[in-house]
Amino acid sequence: MIPFDLPETLPIVELSWPTRVVLGPGALSRLPAELARLGVRRPLVVTDAGVVKAGIAAGVLGVLEAAGIRAERFVDVQANPTDRDATDGLAAYRRGGCDGLVAVGGGSSIDAAKLVQLLTTHEPPLSRYDDAAGGDRHVRGDLPPLVAIPTTAGTGSEVGRSGVATLPDTGRKTVIFSPHLMPRVAICDPRLTVALPARLTAATGIDAFTHGLEAYVAAGFHPLADAVGLDAVRRATRSLPVAVGSPGDLHARTDMMIAAMEGAMAFQKGLGASHALAHALGPLAGVHHGLANALVLPAVVAFVRPAAGPRLAQVAIAMGADPREGEVALADGAAERVRALVAAVGLPGKLRDAGVNEADLPRLAAKALEDASHRTSPRPCTEQDLLAMLRASY
Ligand SMILES: NC(=O)c1ccc[n+]([C@@H]2O[C@H](COP(=O)([O-])OP(=O)(O)OC[C@H]3O[C@@H](n4cnc5c(N)ncnc54)[C@H](O)[C@@H]3O)[C@@H](O)[C@H]2O)c1
Ligand SMILES: [Fe+2]
Repeated sequence: MIPFDLPETLPIVELSWPTRVVLGPGALSRLPAELARLGVRRPLVVTDAGVVKAGIAAGVLGVLEAAGIRAERFVDVQANPTDRDATDGLAAYRRGGCDGLVAVGGGSSIDAAKLVQLLTTHEPPLSRYDDAAGGDRHVRGDLPPLVAIPTTAGTGSEVGRSGVATLPDTGRKTVIFSPHLMPRVAICDPRLTVALPARLTAATGIDAFTHGLEAYVAAGFHPLADAVGLDAVRRATRSLPVAVGSPGDLHARTDMMIAAMEGAMAFQKGLGASHALAHALGPLAGVHHGLANALVLPAVVAFVRPAAGPRLAQVAIAMGADPREGEVALADGAAERVRALVAAVGLPGKLRDAGVNEADLPRLAAKALEDASHRTSPRPCTEQDLLAMLRASY
């Protein structure tokens, strides 16, 4: 008998998990040693106003100063970065005579740092490197080292190979994807996520959960991604409600940092319609990326149900369901379990409650269709399908 997750015709696949991770309360103190190991003497610290306001950027700069490292700063990253962040960050990098980057923040700051890193040695425009147009073939390895210090537990960009930005030439949220964009080190200190407000804890955590779920049910063969993706679902289900309710719980915060990394490691395999829709909702409707996923994921799970029954049953079990319910009932109940998790962490359940205009739904569906994420959906989706998922989420 063939084990259930192995295809009948066995493919040749390439699997790699190379990021060095320093994880645990107080891990920030290792930053100077990690920079020394990489030979970085003059880093550019890339961050945003919220991270500065939370006092985290000062903490990082303090650790650098205490070690005698003088850093240049770029503190203006926008939520949902654009090409402007990359060009302004590049100017700061050049001004400071920098030889490496330290990204401090959520996905926006880490992604912006990746794009600055790319432009230090690669010709603009950034749209040249658009993953949807096969742009990864233009990305070479001659990039200065990047150390990522996440302050949210969500995107997993600290171990991921993509940088996401809204670009004028593509007019959409564009994924730039290359193994060369993977940070050389991720310093994951759960203490840095303690001040994250409940709503952002919830939204970013659901992003990590969605990465695990979508990667696990995605089409394709990547058994390592499947294993860690399902583990991200399990950890986020048990620890996200705790992190939201008890912000200072370092065990829950650590578990969520692990889930975030696992989610991003898993989505090397691919994502699905939830991310295609979320990438449209970010720039067009101004909805936070994690919240956007939370709003559409139940409808996406219901949509893929006919094509992903056994996998959705495993998702339900990872979320705490009793395996004795049987595969059909477990798979049927998966969408409802996701909805319950979103509600348990205090997020709205409908697009209408997140300020999205009903008249914009067709435009959002058209944008989502352009996004490469849905290409690995276990059930292929048309523009009409995407619109139906948006309507079901409205
Ligand atoms: N690269 C990837 O693989 C990947 C994956 C998913 C999403 N993304 C992208 O990441 C971005 C979203 O990232 P995000 O969800 O981490 O949010 P974010 O980086 O946009 O941060 C959200 C807000 O939280 C604030 N903040 C961050 N950490 C804080 C802390 N510890 N305390 C207080 N405030 C804090 C920030 O200042 C900001 O105002 C989107 O652009 C999305 O498209 C990238
Ligand atoms: Fe995401």
